[in-house]
Amino acid sequence: TPLSHIRNFSIVAHIDHGKSTLADRLIQSTNTVADRDMKEQMLDSMDIERERGITIKAQTVRINYTADNGEDYVLNLIDTPGHVDFAYEVSRSMRAVEGSLLVVDSTQGVEAQTLANVYHAIEADHEIVPVLNKIDLPAADCDRVAEQIEDVIGIDASGAIRVSAKTGVGIHETLEAIVQHLPAPKGDIDAPLKAMLVDSWYDSYLGVIVLVRIMNGKLKKGDRIRMMQNGSVHHVDRIGVFRPAMTEIDELGPGEIGFLTASIKQVRDTRVGDTITHEKKGCDKALPGFKPAQPVVFCGLFPVDAAEFEDLRDSIEKLALNDASFSFEMETSAALGFGFRCGFLGLLHLEVIRDRIEREYDIDLITTAPSVIYHIHMRDGTMQDLHNPADMPDLTLVDHVEEPRIKATILVPDDFLGDVLKLCQDRRGIQLDLTYAGARAMVVYDLPLNEVVFDFYDRLKSVTKGYASFDYQMLGYRTDALVKMQVLVNDEPVDALSTMVHRDRAEARGRAMVEKLKDLIPRHMFKIPIQAAIGGKVIARETLSAMRKDVTAKCYGGDATRKRKLLDKQKAGKKKMRQFGKVDIPQEAFISALKMD
Ligand code: GTP
Repeated sequence: TPLSHIRNFSIVAHIDHGKSTLADRLIQSTNTVADRDMKEQMLDSMDIERERGITIKAQTVRINYTADNGEDYVLNLIDTPGHVDFAYEVSRSMRAVEGSLLVVDSTQGVEAQTLANVYHAIEADHEIVPVLNKIDLPAADCDRVAEQIEDVIGIDASGAIRVSAKTGVGIHETLEAIVQHLPAPKGDIDAPLKAMLVDSWYDSYLGVIVLVRIMNGKLKKGDRIRMMQNGSVHHVDRIGVFRPAMTEIDELGPGEIGFLTASIKQVRDTRVGDTITHEKKGCDKALPGFKPAQPVVFCGLFPVDAAEFEDLRDSIEKLALNDASFSFEMETSAALGFGFRCGFLGLLHLEVIRDRIEREYDIDLITTAPSVIYHIHMRDGTMQDLHNPADMPDLTLVDHVEEPRIKATILVPDDFLGDVLKLCQDRRGIQLDLTYAGARAMVVYDLPLNEVVFDFYDRLKSVTKGYASFDYQMLGYRTDALVKMQVLVNDEPVDALSTMVHRDRAEARGRAMVEKLKDLIPRHMFKIPIQAAIGGKVIARETLSAMRKDVTAKCYGGDATRKRKLLDKQKAGKKKMRQFGKVDIPQEAFISALKMD
């Protein structure tokens, strides 16, 4: 296909504004897929994505379209992940295309992720076509939303296309706008091969599949290619495009988007954003701006049943094959035994991995409190990264501690603004900005990431009845009065409950934690002190009183089978507990104790 007849684009939208439905409709209306093969949400392939209605891995599809001018075009759609955790993947895949459809739900208006994603598109110099979706709904207010797009984002929305991805209204206009308003790609077919590694994933039959955008040159089956980041060389055994099913072709030229396979075993060997060239006569300059995605949130994953440790290792290794942004190393905890310390791009990423281990591998997990990476500056002038509060060095050796901060953007209807401000304030936030977009307030806060990772989304959703939208970016590290708080049950520290807290909040946090634990830990035959401490100093304390009687006592020693049954029940219950010293702590306690109200 000549460059002038290629259009490459992505769709940017807030979650639920209809990105996947629109993509499906574009595919269907161009007969890219026979109707009978059309599944709802073609592009969301993983089950969990489908269930949760979120798009995690970027997917792509090549659409053939005969425009009103009679010419045949190739349209390549790259589907980008919609969630904030995957911002890096979004920004990379945007660099692989020239334009974007900006989809805004005409009953809702601009949301936090609309903004975050459209800014990625603007940074990538995209031509942007605004699309107002869901016009079939009575609550649609296209004029207001178009005005809002102009006010808040600052792009011309006078020509916004009015669409119902559900009924198909406006789909033809959207296809025409793609051809007429989005620029054709540029590239030189005679120059050395230069291709962007847009995405990669693991397929159990084909091994690693690499999604590429050709910038210059030609990529053919049988070529020997080099990844410029690590110099590794591979033999290309397959080239193809997605229609959206994988279809093999012989070569890809400038401006084209497709996939290659080259007997690559792990996704880890392919880095999103890397430049691919030929082994011989390659290009000498890589594409700019490569940086691997870094995990920012860490937590421990432990099997409830210690016997499942090897199964857990196996499942984590398999998942890691397909997810280069997820890190893990073995960890031992006095409370929880053997497990793994894992790093994630964000909370959603954590949840997805945890769910997959539990569901696909059927392993019950204990997840410890998510933690961010602290910079611990020692008195001797060295600095170390702290991924696990349990590893915090002795306070007397520490000079100061830095924590990561984020810039959070929250859009919320006016009625809930007070609650949102209070929530941010409670989480040690510093207000940076407060503006209005229609009846909605846009607040920008500088917040410690630590205060956001555990349950901030949940709290935000609940205080705003689901009406707030949220997005963030990293700001950098800043010093604060942070200390490690330990929890002692029956005078023994429970490492899995250690957390980093701000000194001013330690007492309140400690008190809340011991009160909760008092309710969560069952009574034993003896009195159990539950304490929160910083260094050697106890800051909160509760005492769980002793159980008055043995459960079996009421059987008067007479009925042996009844006694046995009760003991069996106790045993079964115990399996779900973690024995700690002499104390059994139920699994829920670890997570519940860390939730703040
Ligand atoms: P993520 O994949 O989570 O980012 O969501 P999305 O933006 O892809 O949204 P999706 O396409 O899953 O649509 C969200 C919901 O809106 C679904 O229930 C769709 O059926 C519905 N929807 C999408 N487009 C329309 C439309 O034009 N009209 C109506 N009434 N509903 C729509």
